[in-house]
Order: sequence, then structure tokens, then C-alpha cells
Amino acid sequence: MKNLTIIDHPLVKRDLTLLRDKRTPSNQFRAILRRASIVMAYEVTRDLKMKSVTVATPLEKTRGSVFPHPVVLVPILRAGLGLVGGFVEVIPDARVGHIGLYRNEATLQPVDYYFKVPRNLHKALVLVLDPMLATGGSGVTAISYLKRKGAQNIRFVSLVAAPEGVRALSTGHPDVKIFSCALDRKLNSKGYILPGLGDAGDRIFGTE
Ligand code: PRP
Ligand code: URA
Repeated sequence: MKNLTIIDHPLVKRDLTLLRDKRTPSNQFRAILRRASIVMAYEVTRDLKMKSVTVATPLEKTRGSVFPHPVVLVPILRAGLGLVGGFVEVIPDARVGHIGLYRNEATLQPVDYYFKVPRNLHKALVLVLDPMLATGGSGVTAISYLKRKGAQNIRFVSLVAAPEGVRALSTGHPDVKIFSCALDRKLNSKGYILPGLGDAGDRIFGTE
């Protein structure tokens, strides 16, 4: 699992526990996921090599830092939308693309229905957002599409990952760093992560 970084900040551990809890209703689930995603954004950008610039304070000039590349966020619909608010809170000039995928319940293969991403992806740090990395089919498909559109610097950000998904993503796209707040035990026979948190889209949007 050399491509995988676990985000183990205590604030995220606390929030993930609340998100796993089946008693947490959708309104709280959304708010907690947004809050957790702010800390996730800190951790995912922690190692960026910043570009040094000159900044003039009211008193004198000094050195400051700016991001070395533009940042593009790409949530995988639907559940990835739950992470966007926190990321744009701390990276307000990020542009946002969208990739629409859902899993066929029988085959677990991703079915695509929407793609819209900003131009000039080759210059950007592209952060693919999806709370669940299960079989990895959706992540692999989304990243293949982004590479066809020119993306070269991609990170995949999830809340809960299964070993099967991490292996699939690492095999399909070995250049992509994977971040997750937890590496869970395994998938069940229906492709759900154990212990997981259930169907993330349904829990965010109240469609259970
Ligand atoms: C969920 C989740 C991921 C995908 C992960 O989406 O948000 O996109 O499953 O599974 P995989 O790694 O096996 O591809 P889902 O298909 O339930 O669609 P939804 O977000 O629209 O509910
Ligand atoms: N998608 C989800 O929302 N949850 C899982 O456990 C697996 C895939």
C-alpha cells in the first residue's frame, strides 16, 4: 500500500466515528463530512512545494508563498459532492470539475453519465474527491478520463478505503497518491466496505 497515506488527525478520527454511526441523520452527516473535509484538505496539501514570492507588507517587503500550481477539485457524483464545501473553504480559488458515475449494483462496474472539467488540466494539481474507495472501479475510471483530458498531477482523496480499492487504484494508476482517513477490512459480497459507513450518497442526500 505504498501509494496510500492515512489521514489520522484526531479531529478526523472523531468525525469518522460519527459518520460511521448508523444513528447519525443526513443533516448531521453532511455537516460532519464537510467539517472533516477541511482537515482532509490540510493533510492532502501538506507536502506541496510552495512557490516563493515577494509580498509587500505595510512596512517592508518580505518573502511569502503561493501554490505552485492551480488546484482543480473533481468530485465523483454524487457522494464526492459532500467533500467539496470543506475543500473550497480552504482553497477558495480552486476550480471544480464534475464526474458522474454510479455503480451497476449487479456487476459493480461504474456507469458514466456526466463529465465536465476545467481546461488546462495539465498545469493543475487535480484532487479527485470521493468518500468511498471500494472496488476502485469508479476511481480508476475517473482518473483515466482526467488523464485523457491532460491531467498529470492527480491525487485521490477518500474518507474510507477498502484494501481491494487501494490495490486496484495503485495498479491502474501507480503515479496517483491516495489519501484516506481509514483503511477498512474488506468488501462484502455486494461491494460494500466493512465496517464502512454504508452508502455514502444515500447518507449524504437522505435517499436510503
Ligand atoms: C459510491 C461511491 C463511489 C463508488 C465507490 O458511489 O461514492 O463513487 O460507490 O465504489 P467503487 O470503488 O466500487 O467504484 P455510487 O455508485 O453508490 O453512486 P452515488 O454516489 O451516486 O450514490
Ligand atoms: N459505495 C458506498 O457508498 N459505500 C460502500 O461501502 C461502497 C461503495
